[in-house]
Amino acid sequence: MLTTSTIETRKASFAGRDWLTTQDWTNAELETMLDVSADLKRKFKARIPHRYLPDQTIFLMFFDKSTRTRNSFEAGMTQLGGHAHFLTADVMQVSHGESPKDTGIILSSYGHGIAIRHDLIPGEGHAYMREVARWADVPVINMQCDVDHPCQTLADLMTIREKRGRNLRGLKVAVSWAYAPSYAKPLSVPQGLIMLLPRFGIDVVLAHPPEYGLMPDTFETARENAVGGHGSFRVAGSMEEAFHDADVVIPKSWGCLDTMGTNPAESLRIARQYTNWICDAERMKVARPDALYMHPLPADRGNEVTDEVIDGPNSVVYAEAENRLHTAKAIMALTMSEREIDYER
Ligand code: CP
Repeated sequence: MLTTSTIETRKASFAGRDWLTTQDWTNAELETMLDVSADLKRKFKARIPHRYLPDQTIFLMFFDKSTRTRNSFEAGMTQLGGHAHFLTADVMQVSHGESPKDTGIILSSYGHGIAIRHDLIPGEGHAYMREVARWADVPVINMQCDVDHPCQTLADLMTIREKRGRNLRGLKVAVSWAYAPSYAKPLSVPQGLIMLLPRFGIDVVLAHPPEYGLMPDTFETARENAVGGHGSFRVAGSMEEAFHDADVVIPKSWGCLDTMGTNPAESLRIARQYTNWICDAERMKVARPDALYMHPLPADRGNEVTDEVIDGPNSVVYAEAENRLHTAKAIMALTMSEREIDYER
């Protein structure tokens, strides 16, 4: 634990930068994001004002539903002194075909940031937000696309560091597909995790049924990042194999790359043959006794995970969800503030 004499006050700014994928940011920049997130968490809990974005507006464009992302951005922006404007694509002219160029130019002339969730159709969301960002002259933030969910994976990394320390070299994290009947969930969380975590020395093992592979480019990036980050990445044949001796398990559902954008019902139909891909107490016994159970939520209780596990002593899902607030605020403050952010480390 840091003593008072080891705490330094630092300054940081990433003014004007887009937050579209963690891949666009160096490890040192991500470390700063995490340190500012931790400082904002401390200030929030101590009720120390931190109005870094007074009178600023961010536009939140949702092409999909949300609980954590919408509310962490809205509450977070209020706490930073500004206003978050909630928009759904179906009430915007984008639903009549208005271009990302026109949307980006116009919204950026009214405010100070644009955040977008567009995650359900492989090949569309990330390209859409890159095009908005090309034309907008304010930061554009990815609130989840088809490729990455960088707000979630930053919060996940923050949670792992809080529980296991800053040096994560050699930590084993299992990312596994799990069964869910509720909807064909985006692929971007597992893709974001396999790309990000090996950069911090983590050994990532992925498991999925044959039909639930991820975008090939993300495998390639995960392998390259593992080399540069002294971590590793491999694919296991089953949830048990991935969980073996794991320090952290992240089992969650996602849809079939081939069908989820065009025929999500088919993606769910195929999943019905894998209802035994559930994280239960027996499977948790394969991991280390103190293994963390994580899930970005929403979880399909009784399908992806049993109540015994998600409500049990290894589960950190509520700490993980809470960290969505602190990381969202760090992303907004650092990219949208014209002045440097002071933080303690
Ligand atoms: N984890 C996550 O992004 O949650 P929401 O879909 O509720 O925003």
